[in-house]
Amino acid sequence: MEIKPINSYNKMSKLAAEMVAEQIINKPNTVLGLATGSTPVGMYRELVRMHREGDLDLSQVKTFNLDEYLGLSPEHSQSYHYYMYENFFKYVNIREENIHIPKGNAEDPVQECLDYEKKIKGLGGIDLQILGIGVNGHVGFNEPNINLEARTHIIQLSNETITANSRFFKNLDEVPKKAITMGMATIMKSKKIILMAWGAEKKKPILKVISGPIATEVPASLLQVHNDVILIVDKKIYSFSSAINSLSYPDKI
Ligand code: PGA
Repeated sequence: MEIKPINSYNKMSKLAAEMVAEQIINKPNTVLGLATGSTPVGMYRELVRMHREGDLDLSQVKTFNLDEYLGLSPEHSQSYHYYMYENFFKYVNIREENIHIPKGNAEDPVQECLDYEKKIKGLGGIDLQILGIGVNGHVGFNEPNINLEARTHIIQLSNETITANSRFFKNLDEVPKKAITMGMATIMKSKKIILMAWGAEKKKPILKVISGPIATEVPASLLQVHNDVILIVDKKIYSFSSAINSLSYPDKI
């Protein structure tokens, strides 16, 4: 795991965008795994800027989003479909047919999960997966549990996640309680992974990802066994961590 401590949100966003751009320049038909939430908003803004300035052609790129709330239509303002178009897809030249996001309002959500997984496989798997991390250590919507599901599946959201995400809804009751998410195996099969974490509330889960045991109770800790993960992390989380300092972790572990 390569750790890049960064001292501003904008710098984190720029660095992540540069890595994504480099990947696309090296492989124009890259299969990108994309995340939603507050964390990657700046990265999408940077990628849009690069595209507008003529430095980034995404016409052959294919995308798969990590997750979607179950029950929300793509038009719902809090759906991840809506987020992706508003923050990214509307402004770049990714072809509509190359965009994949689980359908939250699919008639048969179980079949939707199976089809989603098949599509990822059919396109040769994910080349570069972007991840955020939940305050409880989830990635995608893989919530802490004794058992994790390997492939794309329907998941019951944890109370912590529902509470954390209620900031985007009118009230707690409006937050969907279930979602469709890629599974940990789907994510771990990505050839390369960039995990971004910004803000004090991410200190606890990030510490567990960097120096904790691998545990399904912290799904992101599984990333320790992936051989190409870059962690772009708020320097404050990194340097305030006595656990890390006392272990004198080098930037590359
Ligand atoms: P955030 O969410 O980027 O809004 O903090 C991350 C997540 O829950 O995975």
